[in-house]
Amino acid sequence: MATPHTDPAAWSTSRLLDRIPAYVRAFECYVPSRPDPVLMRQYGLSHLYRLNNNENALGPPPLAREALAALESGRTAQYPSGDSYNLRQALAARFGKSPEQFLVGNGSTEIIAAVIKSFCGPGDALVTADQTFAVYEWVGRFSGLETRLVPLRNHALDPGALLEAVNERTKIVFLCNPNNPTGSWWNRDTLEAFLESLPADVVVVLDEAYREFTEDSRFPDGMEVMERHPNVLVFRTFSKMYGLAGLRVGYLCGGQELVDVVRRCHIVYSVNVAGQMAAEAALADDAGHIAATRAMVAGARDFLRDAFDSLGLEHVGGIGNFIMVRTAIPDTLLYRQLMRQGVMVRTMTAFRFPNWIRISLAQDEAMEAFVRAFRAVLDQG
Ligand SMILES: Cc1ncc(COP(=O)(O)O)c(C=O)c1O
Repeated sequence: MATPHTDPAAWSTSRLLDRIPAYVRAFECYVPSRPDPVLMRQYGLSHLYRLNNNENALGPPPLAREALAALESGRTAQYPSGDSYNLRQALAARFGKSPEQFLVGNGSTEIIAAVIKSFCGPGDALVTADQTFAVYEWVGRFSGLETRLVPLRNHALDPGALLEAVNERTKIVFLCNPNNPTGSWWNRDTLEAFLESLPADVVVVLDEAYREFTEDSRFPDGMEVMERHPNVLVFRTFSKMYGLAGLRVGYLCGGQELVDVVRRCHIVYSVNVAGQMAAEAALADDAGHIAATRAMVAGARDFLRDAFDSLGLEHVGGIGNFIMVRTAIPDTLLYRQLMRQGVMVRTMTAFRFPNWIRISLAQDEAMEAFVRAFRAVLDQG
């Protein structure tokens, strides 16, 4: 073992590591996938269909493409607006709210951290589902907060069980509607009854990352719900429907007093020039894009459901541009075998769905390539 005399550097590093909070030491890092060219070399591929991240295969709306193409390199020498001024104006006009009610982040994931930092201190607790978007749980855990995970019921968030998990230490409940990865969703009545029963001093993060994928009139609109429930903070993103995942732009909307609190713990200038511009342009040009994306997703979902049914496989999917399927093959093995045929899917063990994979819904060519590869793997046994 190193001592201050035999190896001073190793000794001091081990002293530093000893002082790290136990909850950080216990936390396991998420390992992102490697860049496509690296993976393609690794698997010997000339083409890769990326169906792992629920990106929009159609890309962004035309105006956003034009805005990005016109971005002058001189503009990148200047800092962006530190609080996404123009984009907040555009969001306010779109949703009939004040620009001060919006907070824009480097993806909505960045804002999850800001909300948790704003409302929670030592000894506080969070509540969310066990099989949902994992970042709520991760940030809670590496912030040293008790994060209570409530099991889904029939692949959907369970309102009664979530309410039971709330106690006097609970500061925030995270609801993902529709839920990633199951696509299940609460209708207006379910959400309303839940909010009526929840103590009004618990913040509710209503994550509507995939909201734009549905037209169902029974689906609640967080922008309207927050008017009646001041404890609700709505999260949306430009990463999914708007095809701007690579630029990292997401936002929160809520009552101004609450948003002002979150702003204190939010890093200013975190959203870059290109992201702000492209998001504003995307918002101004979304009608045709949303219709085309919904049509693509609906076609892909039907196609995959039929394929899974014909194979006798259990599948789950509702609202959102993704579907999950369960096979008898371990998901990591299935991932590698699909990768060898140029198709990348999401393994679901980390979402607590062992032996399931999630597939993003995209154009016909990609869906056909997936089904071909999937059948070939299953045929091999
Ligand atoms: C439910 C949900 N919320 C938020 C996000 C992240 O969005 P962003 O890219 O804006 O950080 C995702 C991304 O997969 C998601 O599935």
